[in-house]
Amino acid sequence: MSAGQRQGQQPAGPSHVAIIMDGNGRWAQMRGLPRQEGHRRGLDALRRTVKNAGELGIAVLTLYSFSTENWRRPQAEVSFLMGLLKRFVEKDLAELDASGVKVRIIGGREDLAPDLRRLVEHAEAMTCNNTGMTLAIAFNYGSRDEIVRTARALAAEVAAGRIATSAIDEALFSSRLDTSDLPDPELVIRTSGETRISNFLLWQAAYAEFVFSPVLWPDFDRAALEDALAEYRRRERRFGGVSEPADRNVGAA
Ligand code: FPP
Repeated sequence: MSAGQRQGQQPAGPSHVAIIMDGNGRWAQMRGLPRQEGHRRGLDALRRTVKNAGELGIAVLTLYSFSTENWRRPQAEVSFLMGLLKRFVEKDLAELDASGVKVRIIGGREDLAPDLRRLVEHAEAMTCNNTGMTLAIAFNYGSRDEIVRTARALAAEVAAGRIATSAIDEALFSSRLDTSDLPDPELVIRTSGETRISNFLLWQAAYAEFVFSPVLWPDFDRAALEDALAEYRRRERRFGGVSEPADRNVGAA
């Protein structure tokens, strides 16, 4: 048994898994297909993963679907990704709701087209009382943008005299982020072999374990998810503390 297990820190969960779904373009390119086809198959993988995560007891699943940096892609690809979100919500909302899934969208909403914004707000309102898995779709999401929006909102409250500067602490700041109602992720998975965080949940993932899967997102299946969960469970989480053998050394010193 590891020191972490002795301390009761060997993770049983995770309860919140966040995924950077990467590799759609390469998946398509390898097959001589347009990038759009990679994204279309990426949506299939997303649906599969929602189902698998629910069955595997994951309470919160956050999926990075469109970043604040993705606007730099060709206009046609941006429009296609917007359309995929619309299609996903329109086609899957009833089934997600029937399965008890609570849908949340994190990211800046002001830049979304009014119809898309209305649609995601409808999805959130319709499922807000569901008690099953929470599915958070990060769309037009960038962590720096989220942190700046939060800082600006708190600054406005200070300026209006509603809160004191000294009242701003980690808990208050967290409570104003897009993820205010979500626990921090214990596990962040990135697919396609890339090993960057790419402006995803920078605040929330402060103590997350990272697993980098070589699988391209359209190929991400139950076995790949289970592999990542198994890797997570092998890790020892210390939260800035020390494991038991080191504790013993300190005590002996
Ligand atoms: C990264 O792959 C993927 C994205 C930028 C989009 C993710 C979208 C989906 C998984 C489809 C479902 C989408 C919605 C909106 C519900 P990439 O294109 O950067 O791949 P590459 O690095 O191989 O080029």
